[in-house]
Amino acid sequence: MKVLVLGATGFIGFPAAQALARAGHIVYGLARTEAKAKILAAEEIIAILGDLDSNVWLPLIATLDAIIETVSASPDGSRSIFERTVKAAKELRPAGAPLLSYIYTSGTWVHGDNRTDIVTDTTPIARPVEILAWRPAVEQLIAHSTTVTGVVVRPALLYGRSASILAPLFKGALSEGKVVWPGTPGGRYAVVHADDLADLFVRVAERAPLLGGKIFDAANSQTESVDELLQKLVQISGAKGPYEYRKPENLYEEAIQATTLVRPYLANALLGWSPKKPGLVESLDIYYAAWRASSA
Ligand SMILES: *[C@@H]1O[C@H](CO)[C@@H](O)[C@H](O)[C@H]1NC(C)=O
Repeated sequence: MKVLVLGATGFIGFPAAQALARAGHIVYGLARTEAKAKILAAEEIIAILGDLDSNVWLPLIATLDAIIETVSASPDGSRSIFERTVKAAKELRPAGAPLLSYIYTSGTWVHGDNRTDIVTDTTPIARPVEILAWRPAVEQLIAHSTTVTGVVVRPALLYGRSASILAPLFKGALSEGKVVWPGTPGGRYAVVHADDLADLFVRVAERAPLLGGKIFDAANSQTESVDELLQKLVQISGAKGPYEYRKPENLYEEAIQATTLVRPYLANALLGWSPKKPGLVESLDIYYAAWRASSA
């Protein structure tokens, strides 16, 4: 398969591009600098120098099988990337050609904040967290495309490696000796490790021609207690306890404090996907060490 990963140097896209290359596919990635291009090339990912706005990637659409969009873009950004892809697919692919697969990365935050009700991949979206209120419309635009085969993957809160959203939590513990985080007691996080997510992208990309219109929640089958996460971080980091919650200071932090009780089934049922990594709290020592090592 020939697949282009948009965001190939990022927290989600890099492991996905590596996993696709290891699975034997021809993988392309955009790199903004020579240094980033080198990182991709060393992983046998074909680097294309340029950024999303430069349109250097559009000619590839003539012969690609799939695009995986992992760029966490604004509403306009997500739409623009998709619309440019659709336009290029119409112009560059011969009539009657197999449809290009377009895999869009959304997130489980679209399910919103709810501490009582469990949601699944196919639960109707009612009240997304405010900062991502625009996202369900983009999911629908892509899932219902007739020019490309649109598939949506919604990762939960990511963990592992350089820690993504959890990095500032770890940083506070290390550099200020305190564990302080937006939220209130009793919250729970749906989480997924970046490597398990990468495995899901491989499965989705390989089977995408059968998956048009499908939306997959990508999360471990059990959520994690945020109280336990913070308590464990106090223990392993040597920060001064007890941990504390504080009020969110912006919409992004309001999203961070959301509890989404996701219980995904679709990726397991259709693609045989099940996350393999040890849990976030259970192996927090490993994940804290990985963040330290990668941020040094
Ligand atoms: C949680 O979801 C249920 C069912 O959709 C709803 O009745 C309830 O109001 C929601 N709770 C909150 C806090 O949004």
